[in-house]
Amino acid sequence: TLTQAEKAAVVTIWAKVATQADAIGAESLERLFFSYPQTKTYFPHFDLSQGSTQLRGHGSKVMNAIGEAVKNIDDIRGALAKLSELHAYILRVDPVNFKLLSHCILCSVAARYPNDFTPEVHAAWDKFLSSVSSVLTEKYR
Ligand code: HEM
Repeated sequence: TLTQAEKAAVVTIWAKVATQADAIGAESLERLFFSYPQTKTYFPHFDLSQGSTQLRGHGSKVMNAIGEAVKNIDDIRGALAKLSELHAYILRVDPVNFKLLSHCILCSVAARYPNDFTPEVHAAWDKFLSSVSSVLTEKYR
């Protein structure tokens, strides 16, 4: 679980990220598919070329879900319950992929806000994304 200081750091950086959430979401997916092409196998029905409408639309959905998790930082499990069922029971995304996407989101945020991305913010954001990933993969067990 996140400490009060870590929660505060997540909320603060999110206030900035939220203003460019769609662009950051699309960039995170571009990084994911470019660096880890095996992740593209989950999206055979998508046009994954850089800047495609589907890629941008999906990036926006992912970041919206992250925003919901930030708003409900004391109940991430409750906030993402439906998404957790979707990823586990229907999409059956292998949990390793959540680490890869989290890393790509981290990179996109760091690249856009280098001055805000202190070691403390880095650690807090990493821990937060790891909590989101745990919630989205816990139904497998
Ligand atoms: C769908 C969020 C990780 C694959 C979705 C949707 C959201 C979402 C909001 C749309 C659900 C809907 O339309 O009702 C997230 C979040 C993640 C995450 C917050 C982690 C931070 C992943 C990973 C993969 C993945 C790691 C695979 C590499 C998919 C696929 C869909 C989907 C294939 C369905 C796309 C479609 O057909 O429209 N996800 N996701 N997700 N996600 Fe994730």
